[in-house]
Amino acid sequence: MTAEPLERAPDRHKRLPGPVPFPDPRHPLLRTARDSDLPELRRLDEEVFQEVAYPAFLLRQLFDMYAEHFLVLDDGEGRLCGYVLAATTALSHDSWILGLCVTEDSRRHGLGRELMVEILARLRRSGIEQVRLTVEPANRAAILLYRSLGFRPEQPDGGLRRDYFGPGQDRRVMRLGLSRSL
Ligand SMILES: CC(C)(COP(=O)(O)OP(=O)(O)OC[C@H]1O[C@@H](n2cnc3c(N)ncnc32)[C@H](O)[C@@H]1OP(=O)(O)O)[C@@H](O)C(=O)NCCC(=O)NCCS
Repeated sequence: MTAEPLERAPDRHKRLPGPVPFPDPRHPLLRTARDSDLPELRRLDEEVFQEVAYPAFLLRQLFDMYAEHFLVLDDGEGRLCGYVLAATTALSHDSWILGLCVTEDSRRHGLGRELMVEILARLRRSGIEQVRLTVEPANRAAILLYRSLGFRPEQPDGGLRRDYFGPGQDRRVMRLGLSRSL
């Protein structure tokens, strides 16, 4: 595993559930990740991404590098139910979304969108001009979310990159330009 853009996705997204009532009436708090979140972040990443979860050492180092653009959804009782992580390059004003997830029981309530809208706003304020991400071609939920936020496939080949993460691990690269005026 390397510190490349590691947008992962488990197979479970192939079953796409419809909207369901949110089990907890309280809305989780969206805030910047803290050092003390790391064990819970690790648990959350493993719960959602399973065998492709970040190893603990990499999650730690991603946090050290990109804490400013590491956002979590906190249920107020010590549990995290989502996160988004963006890596930035200061000189080229580029950014990659390296992780986005919401726990299965909290999906379809606008939380994934909330995480993305907030991270994009922060990236824009940081002077980032271009955001890219990779997504598994069959991950319809994520692709629809990204498209609705303005991301488009990065050409050529409709963004499709064969064997991007190794043999048989194709990914689609999507891109969004951030306007400074928004
Ligand atoms: C992708 C993910 C973060 C979306 O989170 P979410 O909180 O359920 O998303 P939201 O409720 O904010 O939905 C935002 C939009 O995404 C799309 N979407 C999300 N889930 C969908 C689904 N099951 N079916 C179809 N569209 C879906 C819709 O366009 C939706 O907008 P709408 O509600 O106006 O129709 C979540 O499904 C997840 O964590 N999946 C597993 C991890 C993963 O695949 N991460 C992305 C890796 S690239």
